[in-house]
Amino acid sequence: MPLTAVILAAGQGKRMNSDRPKVLQPLAGRALLAHVLDAARDIKPDAINVVYGHGGDSVRECFPDADLAWSHQAEQLGTGHAVAQALPSIPDDHQVLVLCGDVPLVTAECLKPLSDYGDGSEVVVLSAELEDPSGYGRIVRGQNGSVVSIVEQKDATPEQAAIAEINTGLMRIPGGKLGKWLDRIGNGNSQGEYYLTDIIAIAIADGAEVAAVPAGDPGQLLGINDRAQLAVAERVLQRRYADAAMSAGATLADPARFDQRGSLSVGRDVFIDAGAVFEGEVALGDRVSIGSNCVISDTTLGDDCLVHPSSILHGVIAGPKCEIGPFARLRPGTEFAAQVKIGNFVEVKASEIAAGSKVNHLTYIGDTAVGAGVNVGAGTIVCNYDGAYKHRSSVGDGAFIGSGVMLVAPVEVGEGATIGAGSIVTKTAPANELTLTRAKQVTVKGWKRPQKPAK
Ligand code: UD1
Ligand code: CA
Repeated sequence: MPLTAVILAAGQGKRMNSDRPKVLQPLAGRALLAHVLDAARDIKPDAINVVYGHGGDSVRECFPDADLAWSHQAEQLGTGHAVAQALPSIPDDHQVLVLCGDVPLVTAECLKPLSDYGDGSEVVVLSAELEDPSGYGRIVRGQNGSVVSIVEQKDATPEQAAIAEINTGLMRIPGGKLGKWLDRIGNGNSQGEYYLTDIIAIAIADGAEVAAVPAGDPGQLLGINDRAQLAVAERVLQRRYADAAMSAGATLADPARFDQRGSLSVGRDVFIDAGAVFEGEVALGDRVSIGSNCVISDTTLGDDCLVHPSSILHGVIAGPKCEIGPFARLRPGTEFAAQVKIGNFVEVKASEIAAGSKVNHLTYIGDTAVGAGVNVGAGTIVCNYDGAYKHRSSVGDGAFIGSGVMLVAPVEVGEGATIGAGSIVTKTAPANELTLTRAKQVTVKGWKRPQKPAK
């Protein structure tokens, strides 16, 4: 059966109390709508149509993907009115799969009961039994158990409100019938909206079969209307990611204190301590260990890398057996070969450091190519910025830079060069020689510190 997925994403989300359209609220670092689109793409429909409205083009601009069609709903008059905006672009022979931009934990797997049901002539609603059904539309069934209607919470009688079976908001409708059913819904309800759910009773009156099929895992169909529900969904999704990392070979000190906001690939025997946050695209090789409270984004770490606690890595590529932190800050353009050692309170930016080099304490390396086997002493600064321009520097293989050195860029330190502690290097330091700039030490004999007169 050809299929169009229609994703309802035009609502404001009043209960969020936010300036941002609801479907752009972040869940695991990505917009709610991005998660729904993942599930929609996974079922490989013939078309995906997103109904947008509140927030205008800001929603569209976040998803420039070529495979999406967009329908504009100028006024948010209800879910039925929203689907009607997409209708002109849906062929009559298509099944319409309605997804909600605010039901983001949905997966292709949990949509299966919808796509598997019947021969395509029916309306199929994905339902769920919830301990606390409040806020959702209730599935009303007749004496013989068949579906009669869906009643919104705000319009429900006390008896209907006691029904535990709810409408997840996801349904499949034959495209050829949808238009005439939508034409017949009104807005004479407590919210003054055109409810999509009203087509259920209309379809039945029209002689169509309506089925409500239970979702395999109701936890995946949580609707997000406020920030408390957003927080619940966040933990559900994080647990899903944590389980995936564990089954791929990572030990998590505490799966409840693990945050992945993007994609994470892990090798075997990886260890991730509590409170680590991963953002963007992160790849960890075999036996990598990540200390507690690290934030790691868009980074690739080779096998056996060791990242000590409270280190921040952003845009880093590191070879095997590097040791980083604690309290290191590595910024975009940082590239390490094997066995590079970066110690505490060291910042590195847009620099390549070759194998076996050590930068152990309190140092800034910016816009610099550092060779192999280099030792950079504590408190060394590359002065890469002159107030207008950034300049690149280089340090040759085997160089030894004493503590407290200022390398004023652009500058070159030759292979095997030694720089005396406290030097301010402004010119090329030749290979294999000692270079230092240092005022002679003097002692002023008999000098007395100023003192306040005794009282
Ligand atoms: C809706 C269902 C309810 C179901 C619940 C599941 C209706 C009338 N009610 O209620 O039965 O239990 O979802 O989560 O369908 N939207 C538009 N345009 C509009 C109105 C809404 O695009 O004019 C979008 C929203 O952005 C949202 C979705 O439709 O993504 C659902 O709207 P919302 O107002 O949250 O409906 P609920 O009250 O949650
Ligand atoms: Ca909702």
